[in-house]
Amino acid sequence: MSTSGKSSSNLFQRLNIRFPWLKIVVTVTLCLIALLDLMRSTISSTRDANTIKIAPMARHVKITSRDLEGKKLVALTFDDGPSSETTPRLLGILEKREVPATFFMLGSKARNNPELVKQVAKEGHEIGSHTMYHQNLIRIAAAAAESDINEAKAVLRDILGKDISLTRTPYGNTNDRIRNFVGTPIILWSVDTLDWKIKTTESIVGITMSQVGDGAVILMHDIHPTSVDAVPTLVDTLRDNGYEFVTVSELAEKKGIKLTPGAIYYNLR
Ligand code: NI
Repeated sequence: MSTSGKSSSNLFQRLNIRFPWLKIVVTVTLCLIALLDLMRSTISSTRDANTIKIAPMARHVKITSRDLEGKKLVALTFDDGPSSETTPRLLGILEKREVPATFFMLGSKARNNPELVKQVAKEGHEIGSHTMYHQNLIRIAAAAAESDINEAKAVLRDILGKDISLTRTPYGNTNDRIRNFVGTPIILWSVDTLDWKIKTTESIVGITMSQVGDGAVILMHDIHPTSVDAVPTLVDTLRDNGYEFVTVSELAEKKGIKLTPGAIYYNLR
């Protein structure tokens, strides 16, 4: 050991005499390596912190562990999406306020935004079908209506890896043939915010507060920026009035209602 130590120190001494600049080069190189290592560990720890903050499971647990004791319950529902323009912003708002919602998606839009569909599900929201192309099912041929319903189910099944268990027919229109065919409960609404028509937060909140009650199903559309804009005030106002938010299936469960395929529900109380 001492021999090799001696010979290596002799080597350094000899190198030092022959190449006096080598010491500086080695020192500078070592410093640079240390600096790069420090930068890399700082970047990766920042990334870890972000990952933990947006972890979908943490979010989901948070949403489902809210205290619902003594609260009036409502289901916020969003139709006609998902939209890459507006749905991500809505998800951010819902996450921040810990509000689970139900999204009745169009198969045609879901097919174009599969990652967004998965994100909605991962973040603890419920997804139902709003058919494939938003046709008025009672005005088209029965076979066309059935294939529209089936196509949307297949698209959502492919993306989510499981069958959807709720349907909202476009315009709320159904007939006996559709009810017999649809294979899931049909969820309509008890509060129509008219958010597609009167695009102000004041109107959306005002209509909701005048029609809402325990077990209400509130109809909105996540494709309008103005609807998304209204959500923070709507959520805060409902909470100030003793309401808490659940998905449609949770609402049925909390109210002891067994949802039946083909049956139509306007509210769950
Ligand atoms: Ni619609």
